[in-house]
Amino acid sequence: MSSSPVAIPSSSYSAIHVAVSISPTRGSLAQESLLRNSLAPLANVRQPKVLHPIENEDLRILLLENISLDAVKTFESNGWRVDHLSKAMNEDDLVKRIGQYHAIGIRSKTKITERVIKAAFKLLVIGCFCIGVNQVDLVTAGKAGIPVFNSPFSNSRSVAELVISEIIALARQYFERSFEMRQGIWNKQSNGCWEIRGKTLGIIGYGHIGSQLSVLAEAFGMRVLFYDVVNIMPLGSARQVESMSSLLSGSDFVTIHVPELPETMNMISGIQLAQMKKGAYLINNARGSVVDIPALIKAVQSGHIAGAAVDVFPHEPGANGAPFDDQLNQWASELCALKNVILTPHIGGSTEEAQRMIGEEVSGALTRYLNFGSTVGAANFPEVDLRAITAEQPDHVRICHVHINQPGVLRQVNEVLSPYNVEKQYSDSKGDVAYLMADIADVSPQDVNRLREMISKTSANILTRLLA
Ligand SMILES: NC(=O)c1ccc[n+]([C@@H]2O[C@H](COP(=O)([O-])OP(=O)(O)OC[C@H]3O[C@@H](n4cnc5c(N)ncnc54)[C@H](O)[C@@H]3O)[C@@H](O)[C@H]2O)c1
Repeated sequence: MSSSPVAIPSSSYSAIHVAVSISPTRGSLAQESLLRNSLAPLANVRQPKVLHPIENEDLRILLLENISLDAVKTFESNGWRVDHLSKAMNEDDLVKRIGQYHAIGIRSKTKITERVIKAAFKLLVIGCFCIGVNQVDLVTAGKAGIPVFNSPFSNSRSVAELVISEIIALARQYFERSFEMRQGIWNKQSNGCWEIRGKTLGIIGYGHIGSQLSVLAEAFGMRVLFYDVVNIMPLGSARQVESMSSLLSGSDFVTIHVPELPETMNMISGIQLAQMKKGAYLINNARGSVVDIPALIKAVQSGHIAGAAVDVFPHEPGANGAPFDDQLNQWASELCALKNVILTPHIGGSTEEAQRMIGEEVSGALTRYLNFGSTVGAANFPEVDLRAITAEQPDHVRICHVHINQPGVLRQVNEVLSPYNVEKQYSDSKGDVAYLMADIADVSPQDVNRLREMISKTSANILTRLLA
């Protein structure tokens, strides 16, 4: 399928912009699309319709920081013009160039600030091809009618596999042996080396990573306990425990997979380490703030904790090659001197598979928004979607109306729509921003422009796009 949705926003950020976009097929959730694709050969299944743009300006996308070529292909297959750069862009350069683009894809180094957003006259959507969205001023983007998409869970499997490898490495101390051999030391020993079969793994935080890890650990013959603030259906034979202290005292290996929150700050400190079994191991691949590292150093030095693996730190170097030393974290040299402690530079999610999945997920989300208006999965926007307009509905038009979240908007919009049959309509709000999607039947080509103009003139309008 090839299409060229056209978006011609007409105003500045502050004056509230308007875009008309006429798009091809419409999909709703990814699962629905998959289902539709798998049913495609069946003659009696209703097909989504493909439409053509009424405006001629090509949609342009700026991709920075070497985003995957698969994402480039996805956008180009929609007929969009892609500028693909390997480096990040600083604020001044972005301010100069962003005005030409309807979409931008970044990773973590490019900052999308308020100044950038104010210069982004045509910008419809931002894709963060990474886990976090801290690099974007989410509130300003939302108020400008620009949803931001990211890929928070694409690397869960990569982290879970790293943890499995760390459990075995700690139990067998082979990274120490390898280090010694490189120094010319032959040190064959079995003292303090264990199989992991039959040992107990305690997982703190049973979300995307914790639950994935649970399945892998059981395949290795481990028993799994987990602690989470919500009640979660255990996978396999894993068992949820009521308190963190019972998890700590019952586990041979403890691994942490919670988000960074005020409640999780230093959640593993001296008291919790003392509650762990003597000779147990601690693994932290979550966030640097959740373990009190000076307390961990003491617990390893005393021999109470037999070893640890740490992938995340309170302060991390900004670039490869930058020092990891006492100036960055005052305990760094003490930590680095400990035996049987694996230190890695925040590589938990760093695999080619994870990068590829991030590319697929974020380019898919951007495409669904630009073509069909769906904001499902947006980090800063109300999540709204509608089921497909089909090929049997040639004169249907989809209205995507981003507006200020204030009373009376729906009345104004529905007044404009009242001469038409509104086939389906859904709206939601998040903070100051609200988003309405509506599919209207039997709209003539002349009416498309009139409808767009009337809705974009309503008092709370931020951005109105029409897709048909
Ligand atoms: N090392 C890396 O490269 C890397 C990569 C990806 C994710 N992460 C980090 O891993 C962590 C977990 O990620 P995820 O995708 O599994 O998150 P998730 O949101 O899917 O799961 C987190 C789980 O923690 C639970 N939780 C929250 N507060 C808790 C508390 N106080 N006590 C116990 N449980 C609590 C939640 O209920 C949830 O089930 C995050 O901090 C994330 O930033 C690190």
